[in-house]
Amino acid sequence: MSDIAIDMRGISKQFGPVKALENVDLQVRKGSVHGIVGANGAGKSTIIKILAGIYRLSDGEVEIDGKPIDTITPASIEKEGVHFIHQDRLLVPTATASEAVFLNNEPRVGPFLNARRMKREAVELIKKHFQVEIDPDTLVRDLSAAQQKIVQISRALANKAKVLVLDEPTAALVAAEVTSLFGVLRALRDDNIAIVFISHYMQEIMDICDDVTILRNGENAGNVVPAESSIEEIVALMVNRDTSEMYPRRTAEIGEPVLQLENGTRVGHFENVDVEVHKGEVLGLTGLLGSGDKQLLKCMFGLDQFDAGTFTLNGNRRQFGSPAEAVKAGLAMIPEDRRAHGVAVDLSVSDNISIASINSHSNNGYVDTKSEANMVNGLIAELGVKTPDRFLPVRNLSGGNQQKVVVAKWLSCESSVYLLDDPTVAVDVGAKVEIYNLINRLAGEGKGIIFVSSDLEETVEMCDRILVMYRGRIVGKYQRGEIDSDQLLAVASGASTDIREVP
Ligand SMILES: Nc1ncnc2c1ncn2[C@@H]1O[C@H](COP(=O)(O)OP(=O)(O)OP(=O)(O)O)[C@@H](O)[C@H]1O
Ligand SMILES: [Mg+2]
Repeated sequence: MSDIAIDMRGISKQFGPVKALENVDLQVRKGSVHGIVGANGAGKSTIIKILAGIYRLSDGEVEIDGKPIDTITPASIEKEGVHFIHQDRLLVPTATASEAVFLNNEPRVGPFLNARRMKREAVELIKKHFQVEIDPDTLVRDLSAAQQKIVQISRALANKAKVLVLDEPTAALVAAEVTSLFGVLRALRDDNIAIVFISHYMQEIMDICDDVTILRNGENAGNVVPAESSIEEIVALMVNRDTSEMYPRRTAEIGEPVLQLENGTRVGHFENVDVEVHKGEVLGLTGLLGSGDKQLLKCMFGLDQFDAGTFTLNGNRRQFGSPAEAVKAGLAMIPEDRRAHGVAVDLSVSDNISIASINSHSNNGYVDTKSEANMVNGLIAELGVKTPDRFLPVRNLSGGNQQKVVVAKWLSCESSVYLLDDPTVAVDVGAKVEIYNLINRLAGEGKGIIFVSSDLEETVEMCDRILVMYRGRIVGKYQRGEIDSDQLLAVASGASTDIREVP
């Protein structure tokens, strides 16, 4: 028996001309949480996908629990007890929650599937580890991001995983959900399970990891023990840019209202909500899962409908039947679920970025390809999209670089109000700063911005005003500087009565 659960040595991986990994080592001890950090495109997901048998390695060796493994397939690695929660691979969307938990491991009576037992055991398993209830009949595609992670981890637990690998599991989770996930991971670690944890949130890395491997441009850039190191030291090993000014100052002047919602109601999601955004203003909107904040954006953008209320944009009363109508009237939205609404993965980086703003590059029906290319190349450089050129299909970009493309696409189109649903999720530290700069620039041009974020520190630092939602109602309004992230969490989770109404 070895102390080392995963030993990967000298791993290299080429995608055509792109060297994704070069001679990378990764050792993960049993009973430890091992972090992997690095900028977007550094190779984190690639090394994980090699271990998962999704990509074949170009060079290198892999040992699991001291045993050399020659050829890895997704099925063979699961037999070794290694389970994955990938960044971009979802569960079967049409399976139910309980089917997903017991996929390939269904409780049977003789040859027969015991559906009732499967449902009961799924509910019990989830309740035991996460202290939440999930309806076992809900389809996977109707589960929230947090619920999907819970189902995936529960499947690993049902299979008695020895190693659990999580690629950016907290990206779509709010603070309380992260806390509960960490509780589960610590309990598993105490059971001698090895955990690999990838995240762009450095505070999470400090909180949960025993060891950290840092990747830069597909190579090892160092190993640190967080308890003996600092965020600054880790970031310095990750990136080559100055991130000391994480939240750049904004000097935009706040003007007249550009978007107003009065008594907005969507039955079952939110009720009698009032929102007003001014020109040049960044309005934060935050709440726990199910608070209604995200649903509110969807209704504004025509992805869903208000049941009641008055919605006004640029002084005109509106009710959008579709996102296309909303875009025409001057709204832009960066959606949370970028794979469903954000990018066309088979189209090139260039086509994705310019598709929303193509009218500003055309003349009498002809596209001015030069001005389009300039705009696209400018945004690629500004946000640091890691791609050999602008013609690569978005599918081949790393997760964070795909998100940058979505951001570039929407921030480059002319709108009066921008609805941003977690725009910096999965984006590395350096690119976050660039996205903040773009937001500040839009505000400076007199645009209104609604900023929904699961990152409370970002909300506190970036927003002129903050609205907090709890169970479909607005329970707090704050001006910049009136609240810190801890208090914000308390209000958002309904735990604080220190609620401040600002007229
Ligand atoms: N299927 C593919 N075809 C071509 N290039 C690829 C493919 N998958 C990944 N790459 C490239 O390999 C490099 C590493 O990508 P990877 O997904 O491992 O990055 P990452 O560290 O996970 O980044 P992120 O933080 O954005 O998720 C990137 O330059 C990416 O564009
Ligand atoms: Mg990745």
